[in-house]
Amino acid sequence: MRTQVGIVGAGPAGLLLAHLLHLAGIESVVLETRSRAYVEERIRAGLLEQGTVDILTEAGVADRLHREGLVHEGLELRFNGEGHRIDLKGLTGKQVTIYGQQEVVKDLIAARLATGQPLHFEVEEVAVHDLESEAPRITWTEGGTAWELRCDIIAGCDGFHGICRPSIPAGLLRAYDRHYPFAWLGILAAAPPASHELIYARHERGFALATMRSTSLARLYLQCAPDEEIAHWSDDRIWSELHARLARRDGIDQVQEGPILQKGITAMRSYVVEPMRHGRLFLAGDAAHIVPPTGAKGMNLAIADIRVLARALEAFFTGRGSEGLDAYSDRALARIWKAQRFSWWMTSMLHRFDGGDPFEHKVQVAELDYVCSSRAGAMTLAENYVGLPLD
Ligand code: FAD
Ligand code: DHB
Repeated sequence: MRTQVGIVGAGPAGLLLAHLLHLAGIESVVLETRSRAYVEERIRAGLLEQGTVDILTEAGVADRLHREGLVHEGLELRFNGEGHRIDLKGLTGKQVTIYGQQEVVKDLIAARLATGQPLHFEVEEVAVHDLESEAPRITWTEGGTAWELRCDIIAGCDGFHGICRPSIPAGLLRAYDRHYPFAWLGILAAAPPASHELIYARHERGFALATMRSTSLARLYLQCAPDEEIAHWSDDRIWSELHARLARRDGIDQVQEGPILQKGITAMRSYVVEPMRHGRLFLAGDAAHIVPPTGAKGMNLAIADIRVLARALEAFFTGRGSEGLDAYSDRALARIWKAQRFSWWMTSMLHRFDGGDPFEHKVQVAELDYVCSSRAGAMTLAENYVGLPLD
């Protein structure tokens, strides 16, 4: 089998790349180890920057997003039991949209299938070869049969635990890594959201975030220990912790309970590899970098990488040279590091660090107070939160 671009991974990055390449008349084959049902149901991110919505709209895959997505023009920072609104729209002219990652994935899969172009689920033993040559290959097995795909380019969109990044010879990549001493416990509940906008709460018991998937589906997160076992968190314990951490000084309790439909723990880590390329293999999205979730940058960064990569590939395949491909890693990393900084900053400002150093606590509150009381401080948060301009 032969194609122009072999794409490993059918997450938001791989699927969007396949679609943008199709629109540019470039052939690709997408390989995914999981089943279609699994990737369509996997609950992850939920907040799209305006630039992400614009990219999906231009690509013609945002009709349902515009119908069902919830547009947010502001958010609330809550500390010392008091809420402070950050007027995202007023400060930046931009807004964000709540629309689940799995909905983006469903829309992209539907678009891919409608083109009739290849998308293989439940493949096994995926491996990439001859990356330094002009004819790299991907091999895999499917239903017990071994396959080989000859490509011009391979896109490694296989997430943090994929095989593309580890296939690059040791010593050629530099990794930057930071672990945080906490994790997030997330739930999806059949209950109305606590508020019509997101609430990011700093509390002595730890961070909490109240977000949503629709007007009748709440998504809530709690800071927990990094090695926390979900079995230790009964529904009652989760709700009582949410009530406590989102409590307001005026006594109003906005957290509305309902049946918990899903629970999970997400580790918190910052990680980047440089460069995001080896020969004819290009890494994009979580395959090259992850951010802690505070600030919701993970999926947005994956989509921004793909926009840069798709444009470079279009130039390459239409005879306009390989300058774009040569510049891909540097261009993508300029944005990635700014999003890393923002995610680290939001995480540091809002979480409880064990040891509960009183100096650190005072500085966190002073920082929140500054962000909420200074236009410059609020703007710093707002312009990063809605997404810095695309390249
Ligand atoms: P992925 O979505 O990980 O897609 C990679 C795909 O490659 C997967 O479908 C995987 O099955 C497939 N794959 C893996 N190995 C192979 C292989 N060998 N061969 C073929 N296919 C392979 N971000 C936020 O902004 N906000 C959040 O609230 C948030 N919550 C998260 C919760 C969890 C539990 C996790 C894990 C991540 C969360 N993220 C969040 C991060 C966000 O979901 C990711 O940044 C986003 O999924 C990146 O997209 P991607 O396409 O690069 O990678
Ligand atoms: C969501 C997740 C985040 O990490 C965040 O900062 C905002 C929203 C969400 O899942 O809706």
